[in-house]
Amino acid sequence: MGKYRWLLLALGAIALSSCTATESPSIDKNSLPLGVALAQTGNAALYGQESLQGVQVAGEFFNQAGQIKGHTLRLVIEDTGSDEAGAVNVFQTLINRDRVIGIVGPTLSQQAFSADPIAEQAGVPVVAPSNTARGIPQIGAFISRVSAGVDVVAPTAIQAALEINPNIRRVAVFFAQDDAFSRSETEIFQKAIRENPKLELVTVQQTQTTDTNFQAQINATLNLKPDLIVISGLAADGGNLIRQLRELGYQGLILGGNGVNTVNIFPVCRRLCDGVLVAQAYNPENPDPMNVKFRKAFEAKYRHTPSQFSAQAFTAVQVFADALARLSQEKNLSEVPLGELRQALNKEILKGVYETPLGEIRFTPEGEVLQRFFYVGQIEMSGDGQTGKFSLVKKVER
Ligand code: ALA
Repeated sequence: MGKYRWLLLALGAIALSSCTATESPSIDKNSLPLGVALAQTGNAALYGQESLQGVQVAGEFFNQAGQIKGHTLRLVIEDTGSDEAGAVNVFQTLINRDRVIGIVGPTLSQQAFSADPIAEQAGVPVVAPSNTARGIPQIGAFISRVSAGVDVVAPTAIQAALEINPNIRRVAVFFAQDDAFSRSETEIFQKAIRENPKLELVTVQQTQTTDTNFQAQINATLNLKPDLIVISGLAADGGNLIRQLRELGYQGLILGGNGVNTVNIFPVCRRLCDGVLVAQAYNPENPDPMNVKFRKAFEAKYRHTPSQFSAQAFTAVQVFADALARLSQEKNLSEVPLGELRQALNKEILKGVYETPLGEIRFTPEGEVLQRFFYVGQIEMSGDGQTGKFSLVKKVER
């Protein structure tokens, strides 16, 4: 379990004047506490840290916009670690001690299946910024997500691989079998491969998110002479797998899913990340006006290009901020009892249409995100392997 770190970010002048990093948060009249439950430690920290950057940019951005009448958002940030127990603990704390109006989090789907039922029972809206396993919105009426899975983009990503190398026939699949999202994602990739008459699925290899050595699975796979290898795993294991595939002589194309869609794999596979195709719900080169604004704010603060986890986390905060802005036109939010506010907020979230860095999104009544555009990116590393980026290969309309 991760070490718990409690941080309170008071955003906006009013919130700043009433809170410090050490006092217990309270709901003052003008700041609305929004819980942020992300992995800052453990094997999901590579995602959670990127997500937190997106959250912080969003907090400043939407408070500066002043769109919630008479109020600011105050982010109450907790480290869940990367396991289920940590996420459960943080959800309880945010709901009962901090009395948050809603929660952005947790990082992993694996954590969400344990923690979200607590928010559901308490009637607290959760907007997941990065959970992509099947079944997340179905946990309950208060659970929604902005993180689309690769359902739509998987066949297109495989098509993109075929456009780069039309001779691809034999495909191998790797997935982390101890992770809910990876199990869910590999099913989608495997279906797309089986349904493509040109392709043959030659092997499915199982790994663990804690594995660091993939030699046995790689050797077994390379004997089958694949032309394309598709990976569903988390950042550290996925990055190591890519590195070892290249070190052991694999020269064909590699396609990764959501788990490798992070700049944090660059230090793991360095120049050997080069050329990896990635199915994406966000590409920084998307020219939509909201993405241009997001990139400007993000790059001014962090001096690097945002990746999907940052953009999705920004979007999750945006969903809360926009829904609260609409509600604040109808009533004085300070006068609404917390339980009622949480309920009204959840309804408002589900009703909205949002112009976000991911493009236009809305929700099904169940809380599943409906996203218009998806992307296929390709990693381009500098010659020394120190820096990289996701170039846009395809923008796909749903
Ligand atoms: N997309 C990954 C998950 O859902 C991080 O667990």
